[in-house]
Amino acid sequence: MPKEYEEVLNQVSGLKPFDIPFNRPKLIGNERSYIQQGLEEGFFAGNGRFTVACESLLKEMTGSPKVQLVHSCTAALEMAAILCDLGPGDEVITPSFTFVSTANAVVMRGATPVFVDILPNTLNIDPDAVAKAVTPKTKAIFAVHYAGVPAEMDALAEIAKAHNIILVEDAAQALGSKYNGRPAGSLGDLAAFSFHATKNVTSGEGGALAINRADLVERADVIRDKGTNRSQFFDGLAEKYTWVDIGSSYSPSELTAAMLLAQLEQMEAVISDRLSSAARYQSAFTDLAEMGRIDLLVRPVHCQGNGHLFCLLLRDEAERRKFIADMDNFGIGTPFHYVPLHSSPAGRKYGKCSGSLTVTEQLAERLVRLPLYYNMGETVDRVIKTARNALMN
Ligand SMILES: Cc1ncc(COP(=O)(O)O)c(C=O)c1O
Repeated sequence: MPKEYEEVLNQVSGLKPFDIPFNRPKLIGNERSYIQQGLEEGFFAGNGRFTVACESLLKEMTGSPKVQLVHSCTAALEMAAILCDLGPGDEVITPSFTFVSTANAVVMRGATPVFVDILPNTLNIDPDAVAKAVTPKTKAIFAVHYAGVPAEMDALAEIAKAHNIILVEDAAQALGSKYNGRPAGSLGDLAAFSFHATKNVTSGEGGALAINRADLVERADVIRDKGTNRSQFFDGLAEKYTWVDIGSSYSPSELTAAMLLAQLEQMEAVISDRLSSAARYQSAFTDLAEMGRIDLLVRPVHCQGNGHLFCLLLRDEAERRKFIADMDNFGIGTPFHYVPLHSSPAGRKYGKCSGSLTVTEQLAERLVRLPLYYNMGETVDRVIKTARNALMN
């Protein structure tokens, strides 16, 4: 394994003890007492009272009429792919600059991910590239809200509407973000969220699917429940509990939901703390960006972020390697993000590209993420000082 990949694996997995890791999941509220209650109540399977409470909070936060708790964003994306009725011959337009799960969900249905380029300011999918990639085979667009900043959803919704295509938000990183005042999760037909340990609020592993089309709700319940009509049966709407469609086991345990509920209750405090750390990074690196020494991502004025990530774009891959190593020497984890999927072994095998992916190729080589987690306090200043020294030498 190349050394650079090994370093990232260590940083993300927490195998290597950094003084200041890139991410530090925290207990921030009632996690212990809710899990204790869950243990004492003895209902450990899914769909109990903690799941219902999480789903109801998520509906409020996203403005979505129906939210299902699932065991990961990967699961939510797989469900979305089934709900889009994807199959062999179908195409789904998606960025190459994303996590594997966005494309894997498509490939698992036998359909083809069509990779398009991203915008240089946000690293979100480029609507012009999407418009050019549409063919009669296009069934869906899977857009990612990178770093918690929503993609250009109005332009994407217009394309989707014009061609009768389903629009899916990969909102893994975007709970609490807004686009033109509307919450992430309410912007597409379907939206997938992650509560993995690297996310703003976490249950270790976890996810949710927001369903904004009434005609997809019943099937979503079936797919989450192993392809059975269990939920209709318990609601008294079906006489027998039986196998009715394809599906899998996508519900999380109640103990997972208990932890998530405690974290969701604190989400606003987490976002406001992370945004204030991100703002400190922003002002500390603005002069270097103005001098052309680095580039920073630019949040469009109509987007409200959630402080999920703060990235620097360095000059090139060699400089990035040196920066990561220098920061590593001071005990600070600064991993890169995403090997573009179109250049990965599985991406080459299962996907195809539309147009040039120059922005993706150039910026993915230059990007590092700075440590950002709840309650960093003065640690932000240590990261800033060390990073500025590394950039000036
Ligand atoms: C854009 C994106 N999509 C999907 C996922 C998968 O999330 P999970 O680990 O909850 O399956 C991630 C995880 O980091 C992600 O960043």
